[in-house]
Amino acid sequence: MKDFRILLKHVRPYAGLFALAFFLMTLVGVFEAGRTALLKSIIDLLPGNGSEHAFSRLDVHRYLPEGTNAWPVIAALLVVFTAIRGFSEYISNVLMWRVGINVVVDLRRRLYEHILHQSSEFFTDHPTNSLTSHIISDSERVQTAVSSLLADLLREGLTFLSLFALVLLLNWRLTLLMLVIGPIVYLLTVRFGKRLRRIAHHTQVNTEEVLDIAQETISGSRIVKAFGMERFEQRRFLRALTDLAGTQVKAARVVYLSSPILEMLGVVIAASFLLASQKMISRGVMTVGDFAAYIVALLQMYDPLRKLSRIQNYFQQSFAASARIYALLDTHTEIKDAEDALAITTLKDKIEIENISFKYRDSADWILKGVNLTVNRGEVVALVGLSGAGKTTLSNLLMRFYDPTTGRILIDGIDVRKVRLGSLRKQIGLVTQDVILFNDSFKNNIAYGSPEYDDASIEAAASAAYAHDFIMERGDYGTIVGERGLKLSGGERQRVAIARAILKNAPILILDEATSSLDTHSERLVQRALSNLMQGRTTIVIAHRLTTIHRADKIVVLDRGQIVDVGTHQELMSRGGIYRDLYDLQFSEAISDQSSASAFRAQRSAVID
Ligand SMILES: Nc1ncnc2c1ncn2[C@@H]1O[C@H](COP(=O)(O)OP(=O)(O)O)[C@@H](O)[C@H]1O
Ligand SMILES: [Mg+2]
Repeated sequence: MKDFRILLKHVRPYAGLFALAFFLMTLVGVFEAGRTALLKSIIDLLPGNGSEHAFSRLDVHRYLPEGTNAWPVIAALLVVFTAIRGFSEYISNVLMWRVGINVVVDLRRRLYEHILHQSSEFFTDHPTNSLTSHIISDSERVQTAVSSLLADLLREGLTFLSLFALVLLLNWRLTLLMLVIGPIVYLLTVRFGKRLRRIAHHTQVNTEEVLDIAQETISGSRIVKAFGMERFEQRRFLRALTDLAGTQVKAARVVYLSSPILEMLGVVIAASFLLASQKMISRGVMTVGDFAAYIVALLQMYDPLRKLSRIQNYFQQSFAASARIYALLDTHTEIKDAEDALAITTLKDKIEIENISFKYRDSADWILKGVNLTVNRGEVVALVGLSGAGKTTLSNLLMRFYDPTTGRILIDGIDVRKVRLGSLRKQIGLVTQDVILFNDSFKNNIAYGSPEYDDASIEAAASAAYAHDFIMERGDYGTIVGERGLKLSGGERQRVAIARAILKNAPILILDEATSSLDTHSERLVQRALSNLMQGRTTIVIAHRLTTIHRADKIVVLDRGQIVDVGTHQELMSRGGIYRDLYDLQFSEAISDQSSASAFRAQRSAVID
């Protein structure tokens, strides 16, 4: 019932359409019953059945002037009733479908909006597949529930009620009799059904037992032999076989008993029905027409009843989908702007990372431990360290994908938690290793997030990123990139991403392994594109080409979440330590042996990703 209320909640915004559909479905039921009611007039009009004087409220001729021919009127009513019923059914179905479609559009829009605003943690907890399945399949199930199931439920329910009203009008005494007998038949059928299911279950269990024993002992035949247990196993197997046979015989008894019993029951009902009817007809309480219409109406009631009893299972699926959707909509992990949040417009002075420690919500380990770092405006700061040291995590904190567990990050002296999130992210250009391109034109991919730019600046950005040429090779800026940029090489995708960052023109730049996993040729081009991008920006560059690291004003060595050393390349080299080790291990080989550059890169990426 509660699930049902939730379902109706989806429908509430469309109460008007829904009410109209409901009204039309009532017409469907009423005119279906009305058509059956005409049967009474038809039969009672037939000459010679002696019921000419037993007019009831349901007789058509009662409403006609004395002496009119009733046949054409009845024929016309038959046509009119059918037309109204059909028309109402058609319109009500279309309306319910409309309501369902509106509901699914609402749900998808709400889900999508909700999901997009969630925090990074949320996306770690919910795999992409499950989120898209909420948006697509689950909401579709809710639509089915509204468009088809709810419509069926109402239509069949209203038809059943109309027919019930008809049988009451035709003969309330007989109907009372049916009301007593009906539930008995129903309960008996249900009991048979239950017993059958129980026996089916037993049969299955016993079959499995037989299978298990056979499998066990045949595959373990050596053990059985070694312990001389053949006899024992034979007895065990026989016992299982006997159990199974017993259940199967019992099943047969129930199955074969149910049909004669139900048939007997049906005949007893029919017989008592006949007797009662006959008595009533002879007493003049009931006409032959009443009798015929009554039986037809009873038979017609069976169909809606059957459909209604089945509908529940289907609803159950939709309720589950609807519950999943609400569970998701009730998950709130959005990072919200503080009331007094400020908008920042640029980086004027410096970024200060103050004593930051961080762990991901579910992990036990501290990923960052007491990190302190100042990045002055215009500086290039390199973060190096082994894979898993926490470099990406630190950049995630700068973008405020997560908030630090303790400590704070200041931009020009303002805590980033006091900065409007949108304005903070506007200040940061991010280029990562795995570039996400959308299935859209080059132009829109480059202008992603900066839609106000004109073609000339998009082209200028692409040129500075060394992307112009290969874009022109593939057509022009309107060419579609293809899903996730699969038609481009890694280096080309990287350069589109760099063009995107150049166009965004953010004062702060984070380059996270932007050139790893590229071959030498594309790495050189990407490197040049990056130099253009870094022009005049404050840059945090994570473990990549050593030329960039050479040029860094400051190299920060991160080890298991802690800063273990800071300095220029020369200083760090002369001091020895982890940086020197990393350098000797990975970088020196590349310089001394250009020919093994790719082998080196494979090795390096294994150590520093
Ligand atoms: N979303 C996450 N949830 C839990 N642990 C994570 C998550 N992302 C990264 N980690 C863990 O944090 C540690 C640091 O990861 P990361 O910052 O990506 O390292 P790096 O970029 O230096 O290679 C790793 O041990 C990694 O397994
Ligand atoms: Mg990383």
